[in-house]
Formats: sequence, C-alpha cells, structure tokens
Amino acid sequence: MILKSISYTNIRNLQNTVLIPSENITVFTGENAQGKTNILEGIHICCTGRSHRTSKDNEVIKIGKEMAYLDIQCQKRDGIHRVEIALKNQNRKAISINGYPAKRLGELMGQINCVMFSPEDLSLITSGPQYRRKFIDIALSQINPKYFYALQNYQKVIAQRNNLLKSLSTSNKNIDTLSVWDEQLCDYGSQIYILRKEFIENINKKCSQIHSHISGGRENLSILFMSNIKGSTAGEAYEVFLNLLKKNHAVDIRRQITQIGIHRDDIKLMLDDIDVRTQGSQGQKRTTALSLKFSEIEIMKEYSGELPVLLLDDVFSELDKNRRKWLLKYIKDIQTFITCVDIESTALQNEENIKIVKVVEGKLQ
Ligand SMILES: Nc1ncnc2c1ncn2[C@@H]1O[C@H](COP(=O)(O)OP(=O)(O)O)[C@@H](O)[C@H]1O
Ligand SMILES: [Mg+2]
Repeated sequence: MILKSISYTNIRNLQNTVLIPSENITVFTGENAQGKTNILEGIHICCTGRSHRTSKDNEVIKIGKEMAYLDIQCQKRDGIHRVEIALKNQNRKAISINGYPAKRLGELMGQINCVMFSPEDLSLITSGPQYRRKFIDIALSQINPKYFYALQNYQKVIAQRNNLLKSLSTSNKNIDTLSVWDEQLCDYGSQIYILRKEFIENINKKCSQIHSHISGGRENLSILFMSNIKGSTAGEAYEVFLNLLKKNHAVDIRRQITQIGIHRDDIKLMLDDIDVRTQGSQGQKRTTALSLKFSEIEIMKEYSGELPVLLLDDVFSELDKNRRKWLLKYIKDIQTFITCVDIESTALQNEENIKIVKVVEGKLQ
C-alpha cells in the first residue's frame, strides 16, 4: 500500500498541512523536539486507532484546541482507501472509512497497515512480557479484526471477573456468577490463544530466515510461545483453560486477581541456546528486535497481500553500514518514512526517489 496524502490538523506541534510523501522513501530531518516523530505518530494513529506512545487521545491534540483531525488517502490494489480520524478532548474519537462513519474501532483494522521501528523497540527484548504481548497484539489486530474484538472482550471480561474476585474475598454472595465469567473468559481466551499460537509459529519461521540474513548466517534465532494454555484447537484450549481456572478459584479469590490466562502469555527469544533477554549482548538484542519487526512486515504481506508502510523513527542512523545496506535493499518496494537529526548521518542523500523534508518548529519545509 502507498500513502498518497496525509492531512494533519491540530496534531501536537505540527502546523496544519497536507503531506504528499514519496512512494519510496521520505526522510524527515531536523533538530530535536521539532515534530518529526509527531508526523509518524499521525500515520500510526490512522493505522491502529492509537498513538504508539500514549493511550490518551488528548495528549495528541494541539494544546489549547478541542479537536485534532487526520485524513489519509491510501492506494491499495483495489483502489484508494480513505481514513479520517477526529480526536476529541471531551469525547471518544470519531473514525470514518471511505466516507462512512465507523461504529467500532475494529473496522479500522486492516485498512492501512504500518510497522513502526523506534528506539523503544529494545524494550521488546529487554523489558517485561507486556511489551512482547503488545507487539503481538498490534500486529495481529491489524491483520485480523476478529483478534482485535476477542482481545477487547477478553479485557472487559477479566476486569469484571477481577471485580467479582475482590467482592468474593469479603462475602460469598454472587459466587455462582464466577463460573459465568470463567466461560466467557475461556471463550475469548481460547480464540486469542489459537491465533497467537499460529502467529508465533509463523513469525518463528520468518524470523529465523531474516535473522540469519542480518547476522550474516552467524546466529540462529528461534521464538517459543510461553502460555499457561495448551491445545491445538480453540475447543481444546477452551477445556484446558476452563479446568485451570476452576482449579485456581480459591487462589484467585484469595489474591483477588485472575492468575491464569492469555494475559500472562509471553514469548521466549533464543539465539541457539542463549536466551536473548537475559544473556544476549546489546548488539544481539538490537538485531533480534529488528528481525522480529521485519517478520511482522512479511506476515502482514502474507495475510493481506499488501506491504505495510514502514515507519523508522530515529533508528536508521543507529545501524552500522552493513545493516543499512541490507535494510535499503529490503525496503526497495516498501513505502518508508524515516526520521533523523541530519541526513548525512543516514548516508541516504544520494539515494534515488527520496524526498527530504526539513521539520522546523512543526513546519514541514
Ligand atoms: N499536544 C501538544 N501540543 C503542542 N505541542 C506539543 C504537544 N505535544 C508535544 N508537543 C511538542 O512537540 C514537540 C516534540 O515533537 P516530536 O515529534 O517528538 O519531536 P522530534 O522532532 O524530536 O521527533 C515538542 O516541541 C513538544 O513540546
Ligand atoms: Mg523524535
């Protein structure tokens, strides 16, 4: 897919503007705090419905304004798709797709797909499991709206179940309803489990090829799915999950929180027999994060038949010469948006079909 135009109104410090990007590479250069990342953030919001750096819409709205507005036109194989998003200070965001208002956020998923690389990606490797789940959730939601709905519902049900657990720690009233929440949790949880399992098996295959390329054949990356749940069908996973929940009722009530479920899932990243998270070098961690992200691109292409757009925030200049060369070859057919402090640091200035935009105090030049 190719973004044809992106219109920004009241987005953070950006001056209201319509950006016409290159079909290949657009580079945004400028000092710190000028608005480069804000440009990528706007694209990310149109793809996933949310910012990559905050869950609060009102942080994205220009200070002093009530509303912000994004409007993207995207060329896909079946024609032009248009996504408009209005972020509001007091209200929920309004989304419109090809001119029609969307009733649910899920309708946005898969319209425009992006993969974002940012310096924070390292936390994908080094930090807690929630970062790895977020990676899986963002990728799978964009590929499969069913996953997104199941996840939304799972989160609602678990919140209700946890509320009940709190009340059960003081009174046995309503204990019968616990099994109702159990069944709902298992219903959504088993769907999520199966989709994650498939996704991780797939990403494992892709990652090991890509990692071998990036590391010059020196390292073998494999990814293991770690979950309390087991099963090769949703039905099996449902039974396993339900039994575990039942067995754990007393503990759950004592701790007032649901201990077991897909909200505890994680992935283990292994370079041969080294656990990258705990034993990998800084360089190995970086390369592993890159491999994961590139696999995400491959999987998106496989599911939707379209290449996502690539957003590289401050990461290009960090790469060494060989990795940069590899990356440039790789992104030849992918529309890419790059931010950096100065173009010289990227050695991109002599590339063909490149559009360079200077960003000064929110103005695109
Ligand atoms: N809601 C907002 N309204 C106005 N300006 C904002 C808002 N949020 C952040 N900013 C400003 O945006 C700038 C940061 O933009 P950013 O894209 O992160 O910079 P960089 O060019 O370093 O990537 C800062 O000057 C910050 O004060
Ligand atoms: Mg930035």
